[in-house]
Amino acid sequence: MTPALKLERRILIIATAFVIVLFGLAAMAINMFHVGLPTCLTDIKPFQKGEFITHSPTHYEVHYVAKMWDFEPAEVVVPVGSTVDVYLSTPDVTHGLILLGTDLNLMAVPGVVNYARIKFDQPQNYQLLCHEYCGTGHERMAANLRVVDAATFAARQAAPSPTPQGQGDPMAKLLEAKDCLTCHSLDGSDGIGPTLKGIYGRRTRLTNGSTVTADEAYLREAIVNPSETVVAGFDDVMPKAELTDEEVNALIEYLKNLK
Ligand code: CUA
Repeated sequence: MTPALKLERRILIIATAFVIVLFGLAAMAINMFHVGLPTCLTDIKPFQKGEFITHSPTHYEVHYVAKMWDFEPAEVVVPVGSTVDVYLSTPDVTHGLILLGTDLNLMAVPGVVNYARIKFDQPQNYQLLCHEYCGTGHERMAANLRVVDAATFAARQAAPSPTPQGQGDPMAKLLEAKDCLTCHSLDGSDGIGPTLKGIYGRRTRLTNGSTVTADEAYLREAIVNPSETVVAGFDDVMPKAELTDEEVNALIEYLKNLK
């Protein structure tokens, strides 16, 4: 064998060894960190509703919807030892999803569904964050994922589901359902948008420089045509609410009494 051939053989052996080590490390990583490779699924229709699906006591599926500016579902609880298939979709812009303290890291891209599998070996509370800048509410985009022991999980399953915010008050429920409360509080604190508490009759300066009194006509315009009535100091980010005329009327009555 000539020296050149010998050298070539040596290079081939080293190169092959590198490839084997590389695949070995990838397999080890998946095994050690319990996170599958993120996959972009183009054959699944993007979904609009967050969902938690139980396949077996140790296998769950979560459909996360990342939208301006929250995650749905906002809280997921699974028992320790379970494998969770995470599907992620967005109806608006590109978001990210990272589960802090794990290697679960996905992008939410309009038009496709992204997927990864994760296994949880220890009880722990995890925070889920958006890691892709997606607008003024980006930094508030968070959710919880709790891994609890089997007994806690069983007790939770048996207990009646907790009362959602605004239950018993149909208007508060409507505000919640239409996502108004993401930006507008009912308790007097301003958020992305001004608080709704005491809004009726309030003297309000608008971004166009004029000052108006928030009467019935103003509130109607603010709900139906929000871009025209942006309050000074806030961004023009409110989407047109999808409400029937009856709902708008009922809402205005509700706001009148929200002192
Ligand atoms: Cu969603 Cu940043």
